[in-house]
Amino acid sequence: MSLRDNFRAAFSSEDPGDGRDGGGLLPSHDPADERLSDRGGQDISSAIAPGSAVFRKDWFELGDTFHRTLFLEGWPVEVEPNWLRPLYQWQHALDISLYYQPLPLKSWVSRLTDKASKERSELEQAAQQRRSIDNERVQRLEDAEELRNMFQRGESKPVQVSLLVTIRADSKEELDSITRQIEKTLESVSARSRRAELRQKDAFLSVLPFGRNLIADGYSARNMHTQGASFTFPFANADLSHPDGIWYGINRSTNSNIILDRRRFASPHSVILGGTGSGKSVAAKQEVLRALMDFIPVTVVDPDGEFERMCEEVGGQFITIGPASSDRINVLDFSYIADGAEDHLTPKILSVVRLLGTMASPEGGRLHPEAEAALVRLLRQVYADFGYTQDLRTQAQATRERMPVLSDIRAKITAHLAEHAHDPGEQALLRPLAAAMAPYCAGGALGALFDQRTTVDLQSPFVVFNIKPLTAARNDHLLGLGMHTVLEFIWNTTMTRAQQLSGQFRLLFVDEAHVMMRTDESAKFLEDIARRARKCHVGLTVLTQAPEDFLNSARPQGKFIFDQSSMQIVLRLKRKSLQALQDLLGLDDPEVNYLFAAAPGEGMIFAENDRALMSMHTASPQEYDMITTKPEEVAAIEAARRLELDAGETDGIPAEPAAAPARPAPAPAAQPIAPTLGRPEPFSRLGPPQAQPGRVRRTGPPGKPDRPSFRPPGA
Ligand SMILES: Nc1ncnc2c1ncn2[C@@H]1O[C@H](COP(=O)(O)OP(=O)(O)OP(=O)(O)O)[C@@H](O)[C@H]1O
Ligand SMILES: [Mg+2]
Repeated sequence: MSLRDNFRAAFSSEDPGDGRDGGGLLPSHDPADERLSDRGGQDISSAIAPGSAVFRKDWFELGDTFHRTLFLEGWPVEVEPNWLRPLYQWQHALDISLYYQPLPLKSWVSRLTDKASKERSELEQAAQQRRSIDNERVQRLEDAEELRNMFQRGESKPVQVSLLVTIRADSKEELDSITRQIEKTLESVSARSRRAELRQKDAFLSVLPFGRNLIADGYSARNMHTQGASFTFPFANADLSHPDGIWYGINRSTNSNIILDRRRFASPHSVILGGTGSGKSVAAKQEVLRALMDFIPVTVVDPDGEFERMCEEVGGQFITIGPASSDRINVLDFSYIADGAEDHLTPKILSVVRLLGTMASPEGGRLHPEAEAALVRLLRQVYADFGYTQDLRTQAQATRERMPVLSDIRAKITAHLAEHAHDPGEQALLRPLAAAMAPYCAGGALGALFDQRTTVDLQSPFVVFNIKPLTAARNDHLLGLGMHTVLEFIWNTTMTRAQQLSGQFRLLFVDEAHVMMRTDESAKFLEDIARRARKCHVGLTVLTQAPEDFLNSARPQGKFIFDQSSMQIVLRLKRKSLQALQDLLGLDDPEVNYLFAAAPGEGMIFAENDRALMSMHTASPQEYDMITTKPEEVAAIEAARRLELDAGETDGIPAEPAAAPARPAPAPAAQPIAPTLGRPEPFSRLGPPQAQPGRVRRTGPPGKPDRPSFRPPGA
């Protein structure tokens, strides 16, 4: 028997004659069937129909699979947005259909008015007869009046809602077991389901996407107002969908877009956690690009030099801190955009004390309190030598050319030690520090890096600080100092009072932030950055592969940063790290197992009180090219770029487009990607870019790149 015949037999309206219900499964004949039939010889129904359909009292078989359709009979009295989430996030496949049927407003207003009058007259009668007050009746009266008023004011409308679920299983036992689990799950949200007894076929057809509810009668539907109905909507999770947000990925349970605006959260900070290669940096790059398209300025601390290609593509500023670079930052700078309105010197001195503590104790100890006190006094003298005191007017005169450098401090300490040559206490306090500073001062191995005046100027709303040269030494201590230096500079230049007053939202990303958790001093500094950033409308994102470093009770600063974050993106992690997070994020066992085995770019997002399993996708081939870190892909892109440059430089003639460009033309600049793209390509499906001879990515004349340069509106 052919598939088509099979289908006809199983779904025809003829009675199979054996007492089973076998008739008329498809609601109508679809002309598309004919069209397909004309072309391929087979219609859609034949192609998708199961071998047979047998409907029993409260379950049915389709071919070899067992099914049951339930409907929601008892609805909770009070609900919150997305209260049906446990059902929508069911671990196995379920078919769920929701019907929203508008009800006639006028007749509902008059019904509610009648109901209210009836309740009121009952209550009045009870009062006259001096019977006790029936509180439930009072509640019913209030509800009816409130609802009627809402309808009359146009704040809401009456709507009838039905929810049906079809369960699928490989055996009858499994079907019964899943059914019981679903019934219990619904009970846990104060809802009651019922098996559609003797109506399995109608119920099943109602779940299929034909838009016809065949069991929409009194016992399967519930009347409610539109707000209540909207809470059943799987995408109605307000916290994961903000109108002006940027796109983070797809909610794996509901297939809806996760679009968040960090400005809306109590704190704009976020953390991205994941083992190595889990997709943290890619996640950050996607967020950066999309934020830039929303004209949000971004600063990145990039220990792996990974943001370079992307930075160049969007016309950002790439600043390298390393021995071979001419970009220098003087860690003793205080805000030379000083406004005379607040004291910058005292926090600066405390911060320098911390930095010197980190230099002196790579293992994470701190300076002796007396040494700190002595150092504070000496630092005040050093700054006074350059004309800066507590008098805010002197601070407002600050310039980077007239700033002390590390060797000025060391010289001051050495002079102090010479003055107190016979004071063993003073020698014991400060001599080790002077010795520890030597490598970072002129003449020391790192003097060229740390003992210099600042040369960096910020010129772009997108700035990347590349500290890869410091990681090359595979020395976390040095990397921590580099991060500290860069963050000091960011503190001075972007977390200013002017920024605070402007209200302009900015983002700051710190990759490999666990390095800052290695010493008390740098951990404290990162905590200060988090505090200051929030006040200055700067959303801090820390990326780390070792969440346990942030949750270590010995360093409460990490936990503070975690607690200050309204958003967490958790990607694949080791069991140990997941255990550290389990209580904090309320991860259940299936979530832990999922995160343990997640593919790159797969994970969970937690946004204030909400959470979702999330797949992070790239929004376009151009975005992919800019952010991939796979060495073979990076090499191919670089090779293509070299060819492109050569083509532009050698003949001076605008390069011809390659015979077959591997990608569509770059998207126009400054277009918000997320809201306009609809359903994006999965990141991994795009495949690696092909290096093609003569492949040209620019469309403009040589020397005039068409790459989108980011400029805020009106600039
Ligand atoms: N969303 C994604 N979809 C598909 N592949 C991805 C995704 N995110 C990352 N990858 C792949 O994983 C690789 C590593 O990602 P990424 O560099 O972001 O890891 P990481 O977590 O930052 O690792 P590390 O801690 O070592 O820096 C990427 O080059 C890319 O090939
Ligand atoms: Mg990374």
